[in-house]
This record gives sequence, structure tokens and C-alpha cells, in this order.
Amino acid sequence: MKARVAVLAGDGIGPEVIAEGLRCLRAIAGLFGHEFELTLLPFGGVAIESHADPLPESTLSACLAADAVLLGAIGGPKWSAPQAPLRPEAGLLRLRAALGTFANLRPVRVHAALADASTLKADVVQGVDLLFVRELTGGIYFGDKHRDAERATDVCSYTAAEIERITRVAARLAQSRRRRLTSIDKANVLETSRLWREVCTRVVAREFPDLTLEHMLVDAAAMHLIRAPRDFDVLVTENMFGDILTDEAAMLAGSLGLLPSASLGEGRRGIYEPIHGSAPDIAGRGIANPYGTILSVALLLRLSLGLDAEAGALEQAVAAALGDGARTPDIAPAGTRALSTREAGEAVISRLQRPG
Ligand code: NAD
Ligand code: IPM
Ligand code: MN
Repeated sequence: MKARVAVLAGDGIGPEVIAEGLRCLRAIAGLFGHEFELTLLPFGGVAIESHADPLPESTLSACLAADAVLLGAIGGPKWSAPQAPLRPEAGLLRLRAALGTFANLRPVRVHAALADASTLKADVVQGVDLLFVRELTGGIYFGDKHRDAERATDVCSYTAAEIERITRVAARLAQSRRRRLTSIDKANVLETSRLWREVCTRVVAREFPDLTLEHMLVDAAAMHLIRAPRDFDVLVTENMFGDILTDEAAMLAGSLGLLPSASLGEGRRGIYEPIHGSAPDIAGRGIANPYGTILSVALLLRLSLGLDAEAGALEQAVAAALGDGARTPDIAPAGTRALSTREAGEAVISRLQRPG
């Protein structure tokens, strides 16, 4: 097949992990006979430097015209001052809004070979297989904002329609898994959470009676996630809670560098990115973990291009590489030689096989 992928490498380790994601994408194209048109576009801090805009018009229109967007990471100390007029992060939020990608899927699987890589006990994390569905285009991220010298405000707002559509996405995914849905909110304090709970309960009762729905307060969920993570199947939550809980959940898998994500809207086009940021503390050293990006490429193949076998082949190659001990420093046992970003990418590509 032919497909167009807009590639936004971004800042810090973004370009380092994207380089490996692209090599995997090209290897898949070669192995399965596809033609992927990959277009690199300025985005984030680099685009503030070159275009005085973290999301230049030309980048946005290329994303809107593409079948999928592959994104590295954006941001960094250069653009993070409290008074900074232009922020890379604002470009990311605009991109998500413009593409209508309201559903952010963040799967967390603990690879058998990596149970020892987590800071948590192996018997707690072994066998974890959960899926966060984070609402991505609403809530406090997108509400009215105000700041003066004495006072600052961020408004958190949700409509019933926004809650209904994200609940449906999560519920359908739960139906294809273990039929357990946990909705996370702060209904003991927040009005948005009380609406969230009411709407979520109604949608599941009417449309998904085969599911077991549980509600959990976000503070308790943060605790339960590291106490008994195997209890969870699909978790659905609002934008900011999902942001925070998924960085926590990454540590079940062993590293922030391992987690992929897919951001979807009504159509097939999606944004695919590792959940981590630009990691300024390790940028430029060639040691970032590229697996989260490579697994995001697998999600792109499956969810936006409908290439299931290709996605599976890439995921199996990652599993094989990890099984053979191909580890970057963030997941390597102390005292062992860790792989560079490039070597980890190579470890995946050398294990890629056409099924059958
Ligand atoms: P971060 O995710 O960049 O890094 C947190 C920690 O995890 C760091 O110690 C980092 O070295 C480590 N880490 C992250 N990814 C890794 C990888 N692939 N391999 C190995 N280690 C990895 O979070 P931060 O430092 O709080 O934020 C830095 C910048 O990134 C900020 O400007 C923030 O806004 C931005 N950010 C962007 C995105 C995105 O582009 N989607 C996501 C999160 C944060
Ligand atoms: C993420 C990031 C972003 C978010 C930032 C960079 C705006 O942390 O994708 O998880 O908070 O959504
Ligand atoms: Mn985040």
C-alpha cells in the first residue's frame, strides 16, 4: 500500500528516537512491499527558532493531509521560563485539537524479560497488561486561562458529549479485552468529575451492559496502580489525571522510554508518539530508549494504516530484542553493557520477520 506519514521529530531526544522509528518503518516497507512517503516537518522548540511558531501553518497542513502523524517529543529548558511568550507544548496542544484526536490510548504491558527492570517488585509487575484511555482535547488543558502578577486561573470544563465519546472508545476497547473498565475521577471534590461519573455510568449501563464498570478516585488509583496493577484492564480518565497516571504506570513496565501512545479522533488518522518528553538530561548522548517510539510506529501501522501483520511483526521484533537482552541504560541491569539508541533500533530491525 501507499501511505503518507508526517514526521515531527521535535526537540531533545525526539530526533534520536524518531531516527530509529523511521528505520523500522522503512524496514517494514521493504519487507512487506509498501511505499511510505515520510515527510519531516518542523515542530516544537525547533519550529519556534525557525518559524517563530511551535506549529507552523505548513506543518499543520501537512499533518492534516497525511494518513498518520509520527511525533518524537518537544520542549526543553530554552523555552520553559515562566514568562516565555512561545511554548513548544502549546504547539502540541494545538495539533491535538486541530486533528481532533480526543482519545489517547496508552497501553502498558510488562515484558516478561523486563520484570526485573522495574523499581517495583517483579511479583507485583509480572503479567501487567492494562490500557489507559486518556481524554486528550478537553479539561483543564483547554479551559480559559488567566494570569497577572497576583493571581492565575486555569478553568477545567467538560461537556457531557465529550465524556460520552471518550467513554464509548474505552468501553469498546474493554469489550475486546477482559471486559473490565475503571473510570478515574475526583468526584468527591470536582464538579467536572461528578458529571464524568454520571455520564460514564449512564453510557456503560445503556450501551455496554456486558462490562464491569468501577469508579475510583484518582488519589486511590495512583496508589492501587502500584499496589496491585494486575487488577486493571482498561482505565478511562480525564486529560490531566491521564497525563500524570501514565508516567507513573510507565514505571511498571520499567521505564518512561518504553511506553507508546496513539491519539485518535473520529476518522482513521492519528498521532503516534512515545509518552515521554524531550529528556533534556540525556539529549544528544545517543542513549535514549527508542522502544516507546518503535512501539508507537507499530500502533500507527495497525490503527491508521490497517496493517495488522506488519504491526505484529514489529511488536514481535521488539519483544525478541528485549528477550535477548537488548537494553538501553534506563532498563539495563547495573554493571552490564547497555546499548545505544541506534544499537537498540538495530536489534529490532535485525529480528524483523514476515510472519508465516
Ligand atoms: P521527560 O519525559 O522528558 O523526562 C523524564 C525523565 O525520564 C528524565 O530523567 C529522562 O531522561 C527520562 N526519559 C524520558 N524518556 C526517556 C527515554 N526514551 N529513554 C530513557 N530515559 C528517558 O520529562 P521532563 O524532563 O519533565 O520534561 C522535559 C520536556 O519535555 C518538558 O519541556 C516537557 O514539557 C516536555 N514533554 C514533552 C512531551 C511530548 O512531546 N509529548 C511529553 C512529556 C514532556
Ligand atoms: C504528554 C505530555 C504533554 C501533555 C505536554 C508536553 C503538553 O506530558 O504527552 O504526556 O501533558 O499532554
Ligand atoms: Mn505527560
